Formats: sequence, structure tokens, C-alpha cells
Amino acid sequence: MLEQHATELLRHTVEETFPLAREVMTLDARQYTCPERFAQEKQQIFSRVPLVLAASCELRKPGDFKTVEVAGIPVLLVRNREGTVHALLNACTHRGAAVASGCGSAARFTCPYHGWTFAQDGDLVGIASSTDFGAVDKTALAMKRFPVTERAGLIWVILDPDSSHDPADMLGGIDELVAGFGFAGWNHIESRTMHGPNWKLTFDAHLEFYHVPVLHRETFGPERSNRAFYFSQGPHQRVVAPRGRPGDTAKDDLYALGRLPAADEPFDPLLVGEWILFPGASINTFYLNGQRGVLLSIVLPGPDVGTSTTTQTFLAETPPDEVTRAAMEELCTFLARVVGDEDLPTSALQQKALATGLLEHVRFGQNEGGLQHFHRWLDDLLKADDAELAALLAEPCPQR
Ligand code: FES
Ligand SMILES: [Fe+2]
Repeated sequence: MLEQHATELLRHTVEETFPLAREVMTLDARQYTCPERFAQEKQQIFSRVPLVLAASCELRKPGDFKTVEVAGIPVLLVRNREGTVHALLNACTHRGAAVASGCGSAARFTCPYHGWTFAQDGDLVGIASSTDFGAVDKTALAMKRFPVTERAGLIWVILDPDSSHDPADMLGGIDELVAGFGFAGWNHIESRTMHGPNWKLTFDAHLEFYHVPVLHRETFGPERSNRAFYFSQGPHQRVVAPRGRPGDTAKDDLYALGRLPAADEPFDPLLVGEWILFPGASINTFYLNGQRGVLLSIVLPGPDVGTSTTTQTFLAETPPDEVTRAAMEELCTFLARVVGDEDLPTSALQQKALATGLLEHVRFGQNEGGLQHFHRWLDDLLKADDAELAALLAEPCPQR
């Protein structure tokens, strides 16, 4: 598959061609503002589709935990003593208080309200003043568990405790493609969370490069290409900027195809570009001081239609030395500025305008095929029943 991407990229570079979507697509603007539509997305997408909620290396050691909120659902991710990751509803089974906040390491979780205690797998292990409290069946009062799997060094969760599906069966092969990074052994550099408007308005900006030389002229610069090649694997995508001029570099692809010796290339060129892990995660690849790094961005809906969070997590392939760490931290600050000062304020103004109801439609150009692909898949999965959804997500179908 990756070789096919490289061959195609090389062919387009040499022939100076650029594939476009068949037509301009129009989308009803209410899809970004309508509370009923958002309720459907929560139910049909965010409670049924496996979501990337963390990188494995964020929870490297037994006891490491992280909390995250998805469309108002509080989630606690924790690695237990045996190394297995659990995804729990972050709610005490006494009266619902959150048993953990932020991230850290814990042998067990003691609820801050009345002191009930839970094991790393969510089992209830202690009730404060249990004789006074009265008889209850502790085994039936474990925290709610969500189906979770660790693949390709990423943690994928289905946010329905009653789902009959294993998230590992619904990744459609995208896990095999990104497994090439080897994230399981990577290093967590830093994470930061920013707030934004509707999750799709926020994530749309990850799905095209059309805006890059305009909106990001002060940061990335006006000379950046506004074109992107899109490859799909089910609802997931890889977005790659055009390579140099014909006869010029196109080096990544030549390395990939074995036409140049790979010996002095320190990174695997087949993985460059941006990876979109449906519905709301993206991976951007970087190369700093001889080291490979990625920015994992996770866009999640907030509790209502007009809110979202974007968490940027920077990962490095090898533990960075002091100089590289400083360069990575500088890059993180830069990327936070790009998204926090340029993308998110623009999306917030879009939200404001669309919420008036006076602009009926938005449009995705033929050069914005990634957006067309994303919104089509979203619609299809919204309409699919559980069996259809599982079938659609199980098999890679790149030509859709
Ligand atoms: S709500 Fe957790 S102990 Fe009471
Ligand atoms: Fe952007």
C-alpha cells in the first residue's frame, strides 16, 4: 500500500499532474450547528467507532493514567500491573464523582468524595466505613469499562460499555499502516489542550492544505504549496504535500522505491505526511536534529455542538538529548501558535457566522478531496446500523 502511494506520488511529480475530486461538494451548513445532528454524531459515531485517545507511550509504566473527556463523557485510561490498558468511565459507582483528574501514576484510585477505592482495572476494592454504609455486592460495583485495544502504539477505545465489538476488528488496516512508525517504543515529549468550536469545523482544518499559505502566511510562510495528495483507507487518510519539481528531488519516493540508497536516510520516507485516523485524530511527521518526531493531534467534541478540544501530543522516536529536546519544545510552541492563534480563532468565527443560519451552505473544492471523503464517510456511518458499521470499518476499501 505504501509503495503504491510512493509510486503514484512519483508519477504525478514526473508528469506534473495533480488529481482532483470529480466535482465541488456542497454541505448543509446546519451540519455544524444543529444540536440534533450533534446528538446523532455522539450516538452513531463517538459511541460506536474506535477512537484514538492516547499514545501507548503516554502510559508507559504500570499505574500510569490519563483522563480525557469526549462529548461530555469522562474517561480514565490506566495501565495495570500486568501492562494491560483499561478504559473506564471516570465515575465512582457510589454517587458518580470523578476518581481521577489530569494524568499521573497510581496504584489504585480513591474517590475524593467519600473515599471508595478502585483497582487499576476498575474493580471496587474498598468501601469507606463499610459496616455503616450497609451491605452491597462489591463485585457488581466495578467502574464501567469500555472496550479498548492497543495497536500500532496507540490506544483505541469504543465509548459504549455495552458494545459487542472489539475495537481491534474495526480499524480496517490503518493500524497496520501506521505500525511502521513503531510508536509503542517512542517517547512522550509534551501535551497541551486547546479549546475550539464545533469538532468538525476544527478538524476540517486538518484535512486540507489549501489554507496553509494564506491563513498561515506568517507562520509557515506564503510560499508553501496549497496542494495535497489524498490516499484513503476506509474512512482514514494520508495527506501528502507535492514533492519538489520533476527531475529535482522527489527524494522520499525514490528512496521508498529503492531507486536511491536508503543508507544515509535516517527516517523511513514511506511514512511522511499527515495521517488522518477517523474520526478526529491526525499525525503530522517531523524531522529534527537527526530525530524523527510526530505531533499527534486529537480533536474531540465537547459536551455541546459548539465546543471541542484539540490535544496536541508530541512524540519522539528516541529519548532526545538536551539540544533536540529544546528544538522539539520550540516546535511544540510554534505548532500550538499555528493552531491556537490561527486555525482555532478562524474556526470560531466560522461557527459564529454559521450559527446565524444566514449562510445555507459551505463548499469543498475539487482540490479539497480529503474533506469530501471525510464528510461522505461521516454521513454513511451515521446512517449505518451496527452490523453495517462493523462491516464498513472492518475492511480496508481504499477506492471508495
Ligand atoms: S461518590 Fe465516590 S465515594 Fe462517594
Ligand atoms: Fe491550519
